[in-house]
Amino acid sequence: MILTGLRGVGKTVLLAECARIAERYDWTCEGIEAREGIDLPEEMAVLARKALFQLSAGERAKEWAKKAFGVLRSFQIRWKLPEIGEVEMVLPEAGRGDSGVLDHDLTDLFVAVGEAARERGTGVIFTLDEMQFLAAPGLSGLCMALHKISQKELPLLLVGAGLPSLPGLLGEAKSYTERLFEFRVINGLEEEAARTALTAPAEKHDVCWTEEALNRVIEATKNYPYFLQEFGKGCWNEAAGPDRIAEADVTKAHPIIINALDEGFFRVRLDRVTPAEREYLIAMAETGSGPYMSGDVAKRLDKTHGQVGVQRTNLIRRGLCYAPSYGVIDFTVPLFDEFIRRVVASS
Ligand SMILES: Nc1ncnc2c1ncn2[C@@H]1O[C@H](COP(=O)(O)OP(=O)(O)OP(=O)(O)O)[C@@H](O)[C@H]1O
Ligand SMILES: [Mg+2]
Repeated sequence: MILTGLRGVGKTVLLAECARIAERYDWTCEGIEAREGIDLPEEMAVLARKALFQLSAGERAKEWAKKAFGVLRSFQIRWKLPEIGEVEMVLPEAGRGDSGVLDHDLTDLFVAVGEAARERGTGVIFTLDEMQFLAAPGLSGLCMALHKISQKELPLLLVGAGLPSLPGLLGEAKSYTERLFEFRVINGLEEEAARTALTAPAEKHDVCWTEEALNRVIEATKNYPYFLQEFGKGCWNEAAGPDRIAEADVTKAHPIIINALDEGFFRVRLDRVTPAEREYLIAMAETGSGPYMSGDVAKRLDKTHGQVGVQRTNLIRRGLCYAPSYGVIDFTVPLFDEFIRRVVASS
C-alpha cells in the first residue's frame, strides 16, 4: 500500500498505526525513513536483518533460518555493505542476492524474508516513509521484489508513504505499479472530523469550544491535521478558561500560533533553498493560491520556461513542490503560499 499526501496530513502517523496493527497480529514490522541520497541496499539489509532476527528467535540453527541469513550475507558482500552484526558469521548463500543487479538482489532478499516469515507462520511489514526520496533504481528494485512476493504469495507487505509525486515516480520506475500497489491519497480532514479533533480532547477535560471559536480554527487550518494540532494547542494555552474556549480566545491566540508556525514550521523550509529557488517560490505565491501553471510562474520572473527549469526541478526533487500534472506546479506544504506572502509583505 502507498499513502500519499501533502506535508502534515498524517502519513507518518498512519505508518506508526500499521506497526501497532502488525503487533496485534504478532507480525513483525520494521521501517525506515528515506532521505536524499539514501543507500537503499544498506537500509534494506538492515531491515531484513532485524526481521530475520525476530523471525528466527530460538531457531537460528534450523536450515531455513541459515538459508535466509545466507541470502542476507550474499547481499551484504555483493553490495559492499558495512558489517551488520553477527551476519558476518553466516555462510553466504551463493547465487542468491549476489548478482549485482538491484532488481534481482532485492527480490532475493525480500523472498528470503518472506519465506522465513511463512516458515514461522507469521508475516512481516516493512514501512518506508518519505519514499519520494528514493532514486529510480531503488524504486524499481522494490517494485520487482514486491511483484515476486505477490506471485509467490509470501506474507510480506510494504507500506510506503510519500508526497503526491510518489505515484508518478513509481510509474516511471516500473510500468505495472498501478496493479502492484493500492494507492491511498491522504487529504485534510472532513470538516466534521476536524471539529472532533478539536472538541474530543477538550471534552475529556470538561472543556467545550464555542461554535464561533471552532469556525475560526476550521477557517484558519483548512482542516489540515498538523495545523489543527497547533491551533488546538495554542488556543488551549491562551484561553482564559476555565471550561470554555471562545472566539476571543482564538483571536488572542491566532497571532501567537501563526508566529510559532512561521518560525518553527515554515521558515526552516524557506531557509534551505538557494536565492534563485526562493525567487521561484515567491513568484508562485504572488500569483495567489495553487496549483500554478509553470509558464505563468516563469513569466512572472520575466524568464522563459527553460530558464527556470533548474529551480523548478530542484524544488520538486527536494520535496518542497510537486507537479500535480504536466506543466503544473504546487507547494507540498499546505498554506505555504500564505506564509510566503506574509514574509514578503513584512520584509
Ligand atoms: N490520526 C491522527 N491523530 C492525531 N493527530 C494526528 C493524526 N494525524 C495527524 N495528526 C497530527 O498531524 C501531525 C502531522 O502528522 P504526520 O507527521 O503523520 O504528517 P505527515 O503526513 O507524515 O507529514 P510530512 O509529510 O511532513 O512527514 C502530527 O504530528 C499530529 O499532530
Ligand atoms: Mg511524515
